[in-house]
Amino acid sequence: MKKILVTGGLGFIGSHTVVELQHEGFEVIIIDDLSNTTIGVLDNITEITGKKPDFHQIDLRKKKEVTTFFDNNKIDGIIHFAAFKAVGESVQNPLDYYENNIGSLVYILQEMRNRKLDNFIFSSSCTVYGQADELPITENAPVKKAESTYGNTKQIGEEIIEETCKAHHLNAIALRYFNPIGAHDSIKIGELPLGVPQNLIPFVTQTAAGIRKELSVFGDDYPTPDGTAIRDYIHVVDLAKAHIAALKRLLNKNNKQNFEFFNVGSGKGSSVLEVIKAFEKASKKPLNYKIVGRREGDITAAFADTTIANKELNWKTEKTLDEALSSAWKWQLKQS
Ligand code: UD1
Repeated sequence: MKKILVTGGLGFIGSHTVVELQHEGFEVIIIDDLSNTTIGVLDNITEITGKKPDFHQIDLRKKKEVTTFFDNNKIDGIIHFAAFKAVGESVQNPLDYYENNIGSLVYILQEMRNRKLDNFIFSSSCTVYGQADELPITENAPVKKAESTYGNTKQIGEEIIEETCKAHHLNAIALRYFNPIGAHDSIKIGELPLGVPQNLIPFVTQTAAGIRKELSVFGDDYPTPDGTAIRDYIHVVDLAKAHIAALKRLLNKNNKQNFEFFNVGSGKGSSVLEVIKAFEKASKKPLNYKIVGRREGDITAAFADTTIANKELNWKTEKTLDEALSSAWKWQLKQS
């Protein structure tokens, strides 16, 4: 049985990926520092899969602890989610973001090099494309200067991995996520935003639940059909499955280059107003919202061309926006 290390395995995307790994028969070891999640997620994963993953509470900025972990565990592959992810906070606190998102990445890669470990999957983001000149966005679109420190940690992270792959014959895949939403069908795991949510869907569900008074729609003067910004929302379970596909590509040595990257989205763009309408249908509740000015740093439209990912990873999305929104709503109802 292959043993896979999942860093950040108790987070939103990490926890869903752990479940899919266990379903596929992998043995999972989780590292998480619990800085943006709770230990209860481990029990919820166990309830879904019937098997408790091995768990280590480690802060990956502590190099010695990282080394000790690798001294004691034999690993066949790594899926690295652990990172800070709040865009606004990253701009106010760039050094903490570089220390955590870049520092821990470097430590893990050093351990891999020192022990000749292989097979590394990295959480990247469509934010690397900025406002792409052409839609849908293919992997050939150029990487644009990052708008935020968070975005820059993803760009630099990819560069570090690419150079490491070249120098040390490591094989790695970066997955460039579009907008992950939704919750597991069991409604036992989902997104747990701390404080006021910055992302659209958790803000929508909290508004519908009465936790927030109203949703602010950031701008209706974009050059899009209804004036609101367009994104590619992907069900988190579909996204989790893309990690399994990427991991198998590396384990089976089907990769064409040492370092590869793929767009992981649904391939479909939805405007903020379309999301609101779909949510109202899924929750059978009207949503209280108002139009306000644009949010600084937001782009007009981003959605993926998934042709390359579909073909190379032998993966495609199976769930709809309606299913994702309905699961997000059920998850919200369970929280409040
Ligand atoms: C944001 C980040 C992106 C990150 C991604 C991770 C910014 C500028 N970008 O992407 O770097 O990779 O999250 O999930 O923060 N919206 C509203 N009202 C709200 C919240 C959002 O109208 O209260 C709109 C936004 O303007 C945007 C859309 O909803 O058009 C989606 O927003 P969000 O969920 O924050 O994702 P992104 O901005 O695409």
